[in-house]
Amino acid sequence: MTPGRVLLLPGDGIGPEVVAAARRVLELADPRLRFSERLVGAAALAAHGRPYDPDLIAVAREHDAILLGAVGDPHGQPAEVWELRPEAALFALREKLDLFLNLRPVTGRPSLVEGSTLNPEAVGGVDILIVRELVGGLYFGRKGVRGGTTYDECAYTPAQVERIARRAFALARSRGSVLHSIDKANILLTGRLWRDVVERLAGEHPDVSVEHMLVDNAALQLVRRPRSFDVLLTENLFGDILSDEAAAFAGGLGVLPSASLGEGPLGLYEPVHGSAPDIAGRGIANPVATILSGALMLRHSLGNEPAAVAIERAVDGVVEAGIATPDVGGDATTDEVTSAVVANVRGLRRAPA
Ligand code: NAI
Ligand code: MG
Repeated sequence: MTPGRVLLLPGDGIGPEVVAAARRVLELADPRLRFSERLVGAAALAAHGRPYDPDLIAVAREHDAILLGAVGDPHGQPAEVWELRPEAALFALREKLDLFLNLRPVTGRPSLVEGSTLNPEAVGGVDILIVRELVGGLYFGRKGVRGGTTYDECAYTPAQVERIARRAFALARSRGSVLHSIDKANILLTGRLWRDVVERLAGEHPDVSVEHMLVDNAALQLVRRPRSFDVLLTENLFGDILSDEAAAFAGGLGVLPSASLGEGPLGLYEPVHGSAPDIAGRGIANPVATILSGALMLRHSLGNEPAAVAIERAVDGVVEAGIATPDVGGDATTDEVTSAVVANVRGLRRAPA
């Protein structure tokens, strides 16, 4: 059976607005897709008193891909119990589905680069794929308070590093064959492990050029010479921080998509941004990040590369035409941007390049 079952998790704030926009584009780009929908986050808390249904993971496994808007309601009652926070839905999905491979492509589209605070000459034409480990390290280690000292443990097994590094090498091969592996090998034992494993795999991939870089230097080199990066591989915490830094090259949070994958084809796709409660319900949320997440979904989980490329080219056309929401310097609404993308996808389907 052709994979095409998509679980929509609109979530909170602007989540429902941007997921509805992406659905419009996806329905046109791949008419075989079948959608179902569940509440997660604060929306689910308000309706059912819990951030996700107990059967959510089982339901997710019956689908080929998940498209999530965002979870989080900063105005809601802060939950004392971690399991009752809106974010618990997202962490449960990542952990239970073992979605260890987080992909964050960062593209410096010319018309968005102009609005960047960085030098357009330096950031124009940037095309970086950030490969972040998502279910290990500091975020998933033991945490607690012992004898008045608060601690968070950072731990990685060689197998955990190897499985993500292998995927990064394969992705590097499919692109420019340059891999930057970021660690803190001079100080951290987990950094030493990271570097040893990547170095061993480099021996198996002589066609991929590998450069190891310490994370503090990487933070500097990213802004000094972003075009020298192609595939950037790193662990969970460093990947979180460096990908927000790299967002500055791409025109901000409203345009950055992400994919979270495991060993199989099932993946979770979501914009990098959050629920943006400050603009929720006003019809001005930028739908581009979620629409591009839909393209990643077609590519990595649904086996429809032509539809993925059509969406990406349609978005490029809309961005270059200056049809943009206020966060990237325009005055268009969510609906206007979405309709422009839909029109471009329709045009591309009629006249494939
Ligand atoms: P945020 O990403 O929601 O918003 C940061 C700023 O960017 C705001 O000014 C917002 O208006 C703007 N922005 C974000 N996405 C936009 C879009 N598509 N179009 C136009 N403007 C956009 O981050 P913030 O404010 O730190 O967090 C808000 C809530 O979202 C919190 O409850 C947080 O926990 C949650 N969150 C959820 C995430 C997820 O579901 N993966 C990720 C990050 C935050
Ligand atoms: Mg982050």
